[in-house]
Amino acid sequence: MYEEYTNGVLPDLKSMTAPNYDSINKKDIPEVHGIGILTSGGDAPGMNATIRAVVRAGTKAGYKVYGITRGYHGLWKGEIEELGTRSVSETLQRGGTFLMTARSKTFETPEGVLKGAKMCKVFGIDVLVVIGGDGSYRGARDLARLGIPVIGLPGTIDNDIASTEYTIGYDTAMNTAMEAIDKLRDTASSHERCSVIEVMGRRAGYIALNVGIATGAEVIMLPEQPMDIDKDVIKIILDGRNRGKRHYIVIVAEGAGNATEIAQKIEAATGIESRPTILGHLQRGGSPTLRDRTMASLMGIHAIECIQKQRMNRLVVYRNGIIDDVDIEEGLNMKKTISEEDIARAKLLS
Ligand code: F6P
Repeated sequence: MYEEYTNGVLPDLKSMTAPNYDSINKKDIPEVHGIGILTSGGDAPGMNATIRAVVRAGTKAGYKVYGITRGYHGLWKGEIEELGTRSVSETLQRGGTFLMTARSKTFETPEGVLKGAKMCKVFGIDVLVVIGGDGSYRGARDLARLGIPVIGLPGTIDNDIASTEYTIGYDTAMNTAMEAIDKLRDTASSHERCSVIEVMGRRAGYIALNVGIATGAEVIMLPEQPMDIDKDVIKIILDGRNRGKRHYIVIVAEGAGNATEIAQKIEAATGIESRPTILGHLQRGGSPTLRDRTMASLMGIHAIECIQKQRMNRLVVYRNGIIDDVDIEEGLNMKKTISEEDIARAKLLS
């Protein structure tokens, strides 16, 4: 496929489909010697643990593993170096990604994808392992459509990848937010204030929902169930005050509103002093929790097992309590959202 486009003709990627390896005769699948690995999109705690697992499991299985720096940008520029077991020592507990990451616009063009495919050929990368979110997966899918086998590993704090119930980094980000909100509750309580805290999550409310439950928030504002500030938020706070509450925690998912504006509206309508806090990028850093380290390690091993079984163009997923994999085209067409039942349950305890 890639070879058909070395004459200057650009591929129409939208009309192509990544090959499903289950329907290819095993004998016709080229042997894998080299595996490339990159992290792409927003970083997430546990990405280093994932790279470590792929490198260690990969080299033990006899493959050469190449680290690509700065995501697709580095692939494009050929920033590629072989990684050995020792090069991933002391990375398990470190936040961020030592391979570094970038959001690459280049990879949204057929020229960019074609050049990425070429670099895989030049560096002997027979399979590319991509750790990232949906945007990174779309780059991987386009490479797969050009005939470069790929494996996707879910790395994002947002937990917004439809094919999987869990993404690497999600647990650490939630714990970081929870600890920060516990501290904000102390000061909100001392001053009898309302603390409005904005958490990350892009267009999804998974972080907000769970952190809201874990911190006993009075109100959790989610993009999945838009609220009317007057009828919903302010009314709940006033009802609380009438029941004797003296401080309030409002969690707002970044996709559901802006903490500063919401705090101003609450203060204007209720007279209760309100302070906004935007937790921002501190949710993306820090040493990964036990859950993120173990999920990252086991998912990384699963990626190598897929390659050994010649199951390429797969996304590693966690579903119904097990680590599994799904076809990349199918995975990217899946949808998920927070159910009304889960939202109702969170409201029960506020
Ligand atoms: O996807 C992870 C995430 O942290 C989102 O929660 C947030 O919306 C976005 O990335 C922020 O991106 P950036 O780091 O480019 O500002």
